[in-house]
Formats: sequence, C-alpha cells, structure tokens
Amino acid sequence: MTNQEHPIGVFDSGVGGLSVLREMRALMPNEDIIYFGDQGHVPYGPRPMEQIQDFSEGITRFLLAQNSKIIVVACNTASAAALTYLRQTFPDVQFVGMEPAVKPAAEKTQTGKVGVLATPATFQGALYASVVERFANGVELFQNTCSGLVQQIEMGNLEGNETRKILEDALHPMLEKNIDTVVLGCTHYPFVIPMIEKIVGEKVRVIDPAPAVAKQVKRLLEAGGMSNQNGGELRFVTSGEVQSVKSILKVLLGIDGEVEPVTWKTDREILNR
Ligand code: DGL
Repeated sequence: MTNQEHPIGVFDSGVGGLSVLREMRALMPNEDIIYFGDQGHVPYGPRPMEQIQDFSEGITRFLLAQNSKIIVVACNTASAAALTYLRQTFPDVQFVGMEPAVKPAAEKTQTGKVGVLATPATFQGALYASVVERFANGVELFQNTCSGLVQQIEMGNLEGNETRKILEDALHPMLEKNIDTVVLGCTHYPFVIPMIEKIVGEKVRVIDPAPAVAKQVKRLLEAGGMSNQNGGELRFVTSGEVQSVKSILKVLLGIDGEVEPVTWKTDREILNR
C-alpha cells in the first residue's frame, strides 16, 4: 500500500467527531477513514487535562498502528488539552486539531456580542485563552458549557425535552445580552443545530467549524502528495458498546456500518479485543 492509500485517522471522545467526518466525506469521498470514538471515556469535558492527554496519546498510537497518514483531532476538548503535547510526542506526524471559531465570529458580529458553547476543559485550556486574546478584541463573549448535552447527543437525543432545556438554559441569557452569533466549540453540537436555530431564530448566525477543518485536511494531504483517489472505505472503532454506537451511526449519519470494539488496558494503552 502506498502512503496515499493509507487511511486518515480521526478521533473524538464519542460521536462528536462524526460532524467533522461528515464534512471530510463530502469533500474527499475517495479517502479511507478510520474513526475512533472513545465512548468508554465520554465525556472528556469535565476530566483533568493530564488524563485527556493520556487518552489522546493512546488513541494516536492506535491510529498510527493502523497506518494513519494524518491524525484529525476531531474534538475541541482533546485539542485544547493535548494538541501541543501530541505534536511534541509525535514530531513526525501531522495533526489537524480544532479551536473554537472565535475569529470568524468576531469578524462577522454586528452587535459585538457572541455566544460560545464548549466543554469546561476547552474553556480552561490555554488554546481558548490564546484564541480570545488574538481575535476577540472589542467583542464580548458569553460562554456556556451546556452540561449534559454531550451525553444526550451520545444517546441520539437530538430533539427531546432534556436537550431542548439544556440549550434554552444556555442560549436564553445570551439572547438577552443581544448576541447575534453562536460559536459551536464542541464537535458534538453541530448535530443539534436544528434545535439551536429554533431557539435563537434566524437573525442569529451559528458557526460550525467542521467544514473549515475538512478543508484544512484536504489542503495538507494535497500539499504532502498524500491524497487518495482510489479509496472511500470507512472503519469505525469504539472503546464502548458496539450496538449503541451502531445505532447512533444510523441516527447521525444514516450509515449502517460495522463497528469494531477495543479495550483500554491503561489510560494510555489500547488492546484490540
Ligand atoms: N466532542 C467534544 C469536543 O469537541 C468532546 C465532548 C466531551 O467529551 O466532553 O469538545
């Protein structure tokens, strides 16, 4: 197998990274992709940074052992906690990570008030602080961690009352402050954009960074001569329950795919079951 034919490795704490995978598929339908959902540890958001680094390192080693040619950290939380660490630990590997899209939000807002939805670890990390410092000049940011929303989305509950209540509690106070832009700083949240739009109305812009991330992956592959024209296979791996991941794949992507189980041996080491 040539390097071009190697898969793209993608990971998230759970199904959130599928919002990025979806965009990558649309843009690069001939790439093989291996997707790792760490359902055994979801959610990452409330966990200590060091632990998220360990998980991210273990998953990266696993994806590299499957010959991944590039690693997409399709998780804001893992990017916040571990991207710098991963780049230091694997200096020969190309990584694409996520950061809350404060820059485009700050460029587009008319009211100068922007809502950001992300996990506690993302808000605590140095990455977010640096994005705010660089791009949010003169713009007021209102943050909310939407506690419990990741778990609802993992269960496929995109429209139920719990999901609605979490989002209303987060967004109503922001609307009172006159926000006109909402940044989705967690890759799980694009799956509830219809609900978010219902709550905020059509005058508020919702920014999902997934298309930009997919474009960046494509650019890097092309620049490195690593694009694949002959693939298109998807592999799904989970550290959680195969059946529930299978059914959520159906709900979120309409895909009837096989899901391969793995087990964590330690916080940094994965066993193929
Ligand atoms: N999808 C995630 C993110 O982008 C992680 C959510 C979580 O596990 O808390 O931040």
